[in-house]
Amino acid sequence: MTISNIQRRRFDSLIIGAGGGGLRAALQLAEADASVAVVSKVFPTRSHTVAAQGGMNAALANVLPDNWHWHMFDTVKGSDYLGDQDAIEYMCRAAPKVVYELEHFGVPFSRLDNGRIYQRPFGGQSQNFGGEQAARTCAAADRTGHAILHSLYQQNIRAKTHFFDEYFAVDLLKDEEGNILGAFVFDIHTGEELIIEAKTTLLATGGAGQLYRTTTNALINTGDGMGMALRAGIPLQDMEFFQFHPTGIAGRGMLITEGARGEGGYLVNAEGERLMERYAPNAKDLASRDVVSRAIETEIREGRGCGPNKDYVMLKLDHLGVDVIQKRLPGIRQTCITFLGIDPAEQPVPVYPTAHYTMGGIPTNRQGQVVVPVKDTPEEAVNGLYAAGECACVSVHGANRLGGNSLLDILVFGRAAANHIIDYLKENHYHRPMNEESIEKAYQRLHRWDDTGEGESVEQIRSELKLVMEKNCGVFRTQEVLDQGVKEVTALHERLTKARISDHSAMFNTARVEALELENLMDVALATVFSACARTESRGAHSRVDYPERDDMNWMKHSLYSLLERKLDYKPVRTKPVTVATFPPKARVY
Ligand code: FUM
Repeated sequence: MTISNIQRRRFDSLIIGAGGGGLRAALQLAEADASVAVVSKVFPTRSHTVAAQGGMNAALANVLPDNWHWHMFDTVKGSDYLGDQDAIEYMCRAAPKVVYELEHFGVPFSRLDNGRIYQRPFGGQSQNFGGEQAARTCAAADRTGHAILHSLYQQNIRAKTHFFDEYFAVDLLKDEEGNILGAFVFDIHTGEELIIEAKTTLLATGGAGQLYRTTTNALINTGDGMGMALRAGIPLQDMEFFQFHPTGIAGRGMLITEGARGEGGYLVNAEGERLMERYAPNAKDLASRDVVSRAIETEIREGRGCGPNKDYVMLKLDHLGVDVIQKRLPGIRQTCITFLGIDPAEQPVPVYPTAHYTMGGIPTNRQGQVVVPVKDTPEEAVNGLYAAGECACVSVHGANRLGGNSLLDILVFGRAAANHIIDYLKENHYHRPMNEESIEKAYQRLHRWDDTGEGESVEQIRSELKLVMEKNCGVFRTQEVLDQGVKEVTALHERLTKARISDHSAMFNTARVEALELENLMDVALATVFSACARTESRGAHSRVDYPERDDMNWMKHSLYSLLERKLDYKPVRTKPVTVATFPPKARVY
């Protein structure tokens, strides 16, 4: 096979990733009569959105008083003032409309007795700019992501979106001027390669939770879009901010939704104390995630952990009663029974913080356009390239994301990106000529893994990487530990360049996919440890024992990590919202 024999297909728009962000964008485009291709390495309804449990935030005020401006305040505060306030305003204002659209697409939200959409309290939510707890998270029991993803998939089938299921995207294709013109992909079943030419390409590939050994993330979350962006010369933003969800099942990592605490569950230590009273006297168990994760870790470090090794705390739910648990939290009840042999309606559940969410990602503006800093201008859009959802950094989450804002982010910005693409397509009728050199590069990247000769195995390097990240880039960080992380990930990166996949067995294509995924993961790991090493302050999820304070004077800025020379740069936070006054940084207490 040579490059000239590879089949080519043309579409107006290519979307890589079939989670909620990709499918929301695809639907908007297909309904505007654009020809849309969605490439997904798994069958679309297996995308990681399916695992989202607790719900999505929108100030509907169905249960308690609420409005979008309070939601905006909570999100800015939750982000530890690193979020861009124009994007946050846009997202919080759009939220109710996006929820009602989902309702019309057929999402089976849980209901209140009056028929309105059920909303539960989640962490970091308040009424009236920091007052009483709000109830803002719209839920379909504890299977909200599942409900949304299936409805969006069905709507896309109706709208005739073209799916390339179980195809792996190797790299973006571009011309010499840097315009993005599609992607080089291959069919995981047959190995057949395909060049997809598109006037616009949207990356919606999700996060990189597979960086860590203990994670809520599916095996597919390997930072593929981020890796592709880095190789296309685009820096990654704010990668030092990685979220650890406070309540993963101890030792295993599966998610126990924050909705469990929203419904009234609470954490206790070995002495039976409600530990969050010590760390967040007002919000208690519904403080933001970075605060709760640090609290659990501190309890354990100070010897108040539970179990024979004192290495977890307990999540108590039994007082809620079996009816509430079965109605509102049926999925986590089943998970606990299956994986722990524990029924949370009867016994507390052992929990520990687990890797959950990549706050950083591909820099975008609020129209979903990928933006890069260019000389004296703070940023310029990359022609034809968009990103949305966890792989992107718009940045609405800043240094710490609030629970329930992730489903919201993917839907609001998937839709916003599609709307911008629709306008772009009105002005750009023709496909630009492909640059054969960029095809050659992608082809070589894939075929580098054809040689199954001697060499270290990909699996070995992947499991070491996860351990290094867990040890050196976790909840609490120091310069010494991070420097060691940089050293070890750099060494693993070097080893990966000499690694081999085992053989040309029936599993050859999946082995190639795993190798390509690890290359993506490795570049994302480097971006994460390098960025963390450089930020000498504590902000949100980036908690430096050696620099315990937030330093607004020096660090109120976004980091940008580039693959070339592994270089870090910085750009200002967009502190000016669209229509309202800025929320200036304040001490962040819950
Ligand atoms: O706890 C959860 O249900 C997770 C929600 C989220 O990450 O937004």
